[in-house]
Parts: sequence; structure tokens; C-alpha cells
Amino acid sequence: MDKKTFYITTPIYYPSGKAHIGHSYCTVASDAIARYKRMQGYDVMFLTGTDEHGQKIEINAEKEGVTPKEYVDKIVAGFQDLWKLLNISNDRFIRTTDDYHVKAVQKIFKTLYDKGEIYKGQYEGWYCTPCEAFWTETQLKDGKCPDCGREVKMANEEAYFFRISKYADRLLKLYEEQPDFIQPDSRKNEMINFIKQGLNDLCVSRTSFSWGIPVDFDPKHVVYVWLDALTNYITALGYGSDDDSDYKKYWPADVHFVGKEIVRFHTIIWPAMLMALNLPLPKQVYGHGWLLFGDGTKMSKSKGNVVDPVILCSRYGVDAIRYFLLREIPFGADGVFTNEALINRINSDLANDLGNLLSRSTAMAQKYFGGKIPAERESAPVDDELIQMALDLRGKCDSAIEGYQFSNALAEIWKLIARTNKYIDETMPWVLGKDESKRARLAAVIYNLCESLRIVSVLLTPFLPETAPKIQAQIGAKPEELTYDSAAKWGVLSNDAVITKGETLYPRIDVDKEIEELNKLIPNPAEQNEEKTAAPKIEGLAQISIDDFDKVELRVGKVKACEPVKRAKKLLKLTIEDGVGERTIVSGIAKWYKPEDLTGHSIIFVANLKPATLCGVESQGMILSADAGEDVKVIFVDGVPSGSKIC
Ligand code: MSP
Repeated sequence: MDKKTFYITTPIYYPSGKAHIGHSYCTVASDAIARYKRMQGYDVMFLTGTDEHGQKIEINAEKEGVTPKEYVDKIVAGFQDLWKLLNISNDRFIRTTDDYHVKAVQKIFKTLYDKGEIYKGQYEGWYCTPCEAFWTETQLKDGKCPDCGREVKMANEEAYFFRISKYADRLLKLYEEQPDFIQPDSRKNEMINFIKQGLNDLCVSRTSFSWGIPVDFDPKHVVYVWLDALTNYITALGYGSDDDSDYKKYWPADVHFVGKEIVRFHTIIWPAMLMALNLPLPKQVYGHGWLLFGDGTKMSKSKGNVVDPVILCSRYGVDAIRYFLLREIPFGADGVFTNEALINRINSDLANDLGNLLSRSTAMAQKYFGGKIPAERESAPVDDELIQMALDLRGKCDSAIEGYQFSNALAEIWKLIARTNKYIDETMPWVLGKDESKRARLAAVIYNLCESLRIVSVLLTPFLPETAPKIQAQIGAKPEELTYDSAAKWGVLSNDAVITKGETLYPRIDVDKEIEELNKLIPNPAEQNEEKTAAPKIEGLAQISIDDFDKVELRVGKVKACEPVKRAKKLLKLTIEDGVGERTIVSGIAKWYKPEDLTGHSIIFVANLKPATLCGVESQGMILSADAGEDVKVIFVDGVPSGSKIC
């Protein structure tokens, strides 16, 4: 018989900045579920990926003087490396720039157009560039984007529209008939209210920028980034390609894990699109909370206040970080990240409770029995409570996992760990060890310790995939003793198991010393938001040292000549007299300046930037300009001799 399938997805992340611990949160949670379900015998498809189109990426790339694809390639590689580091077991990684995805999106767009679900019209509305979202006047909060609180601008363009308004009733019915469709429940009410305020048809194409999937039958339009992104959940399975066997096998998804701010896209736009395509709907969308700093602000790359998981993993190990994320924050709620909380969790739960239980148990097995527990064992009534608790554990973990309550599942496992530690105090093996006549009793006690550790290790595998095998190696458990079924049985560890005291799982951390060290490496997240110095800090701006600034050589240069770059409507090629000779600089300012606006003027340029080739022209620097939102102003310093140093 075919195995039951389970399809789980993370959101696809914007590669507009480096991956941070906030992104790791959802990915680690999804990974734990994927591993748990595989352990339960499901045929799992676990998908993650990157959402690579949109104006924001185009602007960021332009600022760096590279193509959008070059820009995202570098950041996407960082995401992939981070997932490898965090032991993420995704079966697939989709990039929305992948060819098969692009083709499938074009096909879907055309199908919807042919069915009359998409039509052409005029768009006028408030647009938030960072969120890639249009808003109506009434949706704005104090005149700003209701999602991120930033400035919005009025945009007017010819556009295609998706008739989402006609799905309002069907969506409300869906939430009613499938009460688990949106979880947690609190998020459902937000969506119901949103729909009841009235749904306007959704603008699903853009002409104001080009970094997107072209509408193939009207190529001056690119597909709205959310329509492009949401379809990843089916295109990754081959929907819209020659081979859609995985789509047939795994769709509909069992659950989409998403952050709370994007629940709306996943529970309104996405199901409406699927309804319009006549496709089955995902079974559930789970909106988790955010990782916050102690002062309640969100960690986010656009604010620049992020915690780098790579540093944390290198200091404490990957599993410690996975454990913290899953244990500390109840999934669904917001949670606070502090360096202190992280270190305290590692010390108390991992080093003390789990680490000590393993080292005490294995050390005693070696000391009293040379690592092989005798088969002759004598039980006692005190064993019963421990054994019963161990036997009940899998059921408790299962029900916590069914509701995606990682923190509860881990809390249950730790209850057994605590009970097992207490069992050592109750049975006092060091006293039994002094009395030869108690040898069979001592054997039973130590066997029970190892057996409890075996069950703990099996159930910990999805959460701590590096630590669990270390425990299993030390207690000498064989693969067949480590199955999901075996986690609900007692007495599985065989008599010939060889127990060895191995390396310490989690060395205890000296809290004060470590906090001091860590705060130097990762300023305590809450403090990243504080005004700590006399100099006024701009929110979201990481501070650099004077040494960092000294690395940048800024000089004055005079523009001798300027011309457009062929086939690159945004670029100008400037010939700069730099005080020593001449150099070429390519700049993405053609939208704001004509060549004659620049020729003869003196500007400031970065003189020690590594050359980069842009649209076939080698650029030997970068000119400075002020980004005034809609507008860009080159900084002119006419009258200052070429070659002057800016200091
Ligand atoms: N590209 C869209 C998603 C498209 S899915 C079809 C997007 N990308 S994102 O990179 O901005 O965010 C991706 C996910 O990361 C979101 O679910 C978001 O909630 C999550 N997080 C980003 N910062 C976070 C925290 N500080 N804490 C927890 N999750 C956070 O939205």
C-alpha cells in the first residue's frame, strides 16, 4: 500500500537581505514537523525556497550596481548555506527565478485570463514598495502602510485585475466549513473582518518596474509578486509542467506555515486563486508569531537589527539554537529573543537536565558493569511510575505535534527527563553499588535509566537531529530499537547493548562571561534598539566603527563625458577625471539625469571599490547620490579640485 503523504511548506523568503534568526524560526519548525512525520511513516514533501522578484530587489540591485539576478544569487546561496547548517531536511528548494516556475506562472496567468478571472483595467491606489502591496485609502493606518507602518505612494497604472471580489462568500464559507483552515483561531477572525469590509478586485500585474515574470501575452506587464510567489506551492510539484506527478501525489498541502503578517495573502488571495483555477485548497494555513526583542520590536532585515544564527550555531551548536527556538516560544504567539534567555535554556535544559542524565547514567553503567548491564534484573515498585510516564510520552508528543505545539511536546519530553533524574535520587545507585547482593537491583535501575534515555532520544530526533544520535550511540541502542513504534514500548534496549560514556553533550556555560563575549559579537538584541550613545541613532541602522569608515576612500572627480549604456535604460556611463587620470563609472541614475546634466560637474566617488562589469561596461567606482525616496540627487561639489579626498 502507498504510504500516506504529508506536504508541508515554509514561506518562500525574500532574498533582499541576509537570512536571519527570524527566518530560521519558521524553517526549523517546519523541519521538526517534516522529520516527525517521516518518523511516523509518512511520505513527506517539505518545501522551502526564495521569492526573488519585485521592485525592492530591483532597487537594491541597482544600488549595488549589479543585476537583480546577480544580487539574489548571492543572498540565496546564503539562505541555502544556513539551511544546511541548521540541518534543514527540505526535499525541495524553489527559486521563483527557476525556469520551470516562470513558465508555469505564465501559464496560470493566461489560464485565469482566458477564463475571465483576470481582466485588464486601470489601477490607482496607495503602494507600499517594501511590502509590494497596494492599499485602499481606508486600509491605510495613519496614512501609512497598515502592515509595516512605512510611507506609501500613490500609483496609477494600466494593470490586470483578478476578480477576487466574487470569492468573498466562498471564502467565508470555507472558514466556516473547514474550521481548521486558518490556525490559530484568533487569526481567523482577523480574516473574516477583512473580507467583510469588502474585497476589491486585486491588481495582479505591474508596469512600473521590470524585475518580475513577464505576462507573456502582454510583456510590458510583469506578474504581481504575490501571485508569482503563492503559486510556488504547486509549481514546485510540477504543476503547469510536463511532469505533474508530484503535484498529483502531494497536493493539497497539509499545512502552510507562515508568519502572522502574511496569513492574509495565504488565506484570502491563495485560496481564491485556487478556486478560480478549480484546484483543491490547502488543508491548513498556520500563522506563527514573530521573534521580538526584549523591547517588543520585531527583528527584521529592513530594520537592520537582526541576530545572526551562524554566530550562535558556531558557539553553542546547531541543536541548541533549534531547541531554543522551538522550546522558548509557543508556536502561534510572539516570543522574545535575548542572549540571556538563550544561554539559560542551554544551561538548564540541555546541559543540566539532559546532559547530566546521560553522563550520570552512562558513567554508572561503565563503573558498575563495564558498560554491559547484566540480564538478571530485579524490579521494584518505584520503577512503575517512571515506566508508565515513559510509555505515555509518545502519545503526548503526538497530540502536541498534531496541533504544532512544539514547546508543549518538548516540555513533555523534559518532564520525563526530570522524572528520570529524580529516579536516580530515589533509587540511589551509588548505595546499591556498595552491596554485592543488590547487583540485580542496580542492573534494573541503570537499565531503566538507559531505557528512558532511549525513548527520550527517539522523540527528540525531529527537534535535535544531531544530539539524538549522540545519546543513542552512548547507550548502545541499535537502529531497530530507535523506531517510532519502539518509542511506545518499554524494555526494548537489548541485553547486549554496549554503553559508553562519551563526550559531554552540552558543556555548561559561564553565563556572565559568555554574555559579555556574546554582547560584543551580537549586541544584545534589545540593546540594538536602544539609544545608547550621545550621537542620535537612526532606527534600523547598524553602527560601524571609524576603522570601517576609513576603509572607504571617497574622492572628488569631474565628469568629463557621459553617455547612456546600450540596452540598459537605467544606466549612464561616466568618464571621470579623478586627479590621477581618468576612470569609467557606470551609475543607475538615467531615470533622474540626462548626460548633459552631469557633464562638467564635480561629484564624489568611491575610489577604492572593486571594479564590476555592468551590461558589458567595466565600472571602476561608484558616485554618491542622495536617495530622496521617489527622487535621486547626485551630490555635486563644483569648484573642488579633482582628486580631493573626502574626510
Ligand atoms: N516572500 C514573502 C512570502 C511569500 S510566501 C508565498 C515574505 N518573505 S519574507 O522574507 O519577508 O518573510 C518570510 C517569512 O519570514 C514570513 O513568514 C515572516 O513572518 C518570517 N519572518 C521574518 N522575520 C521574522 C521574525 N522576526 N520572527 C518570525 N518570523 C519572521 O513575506
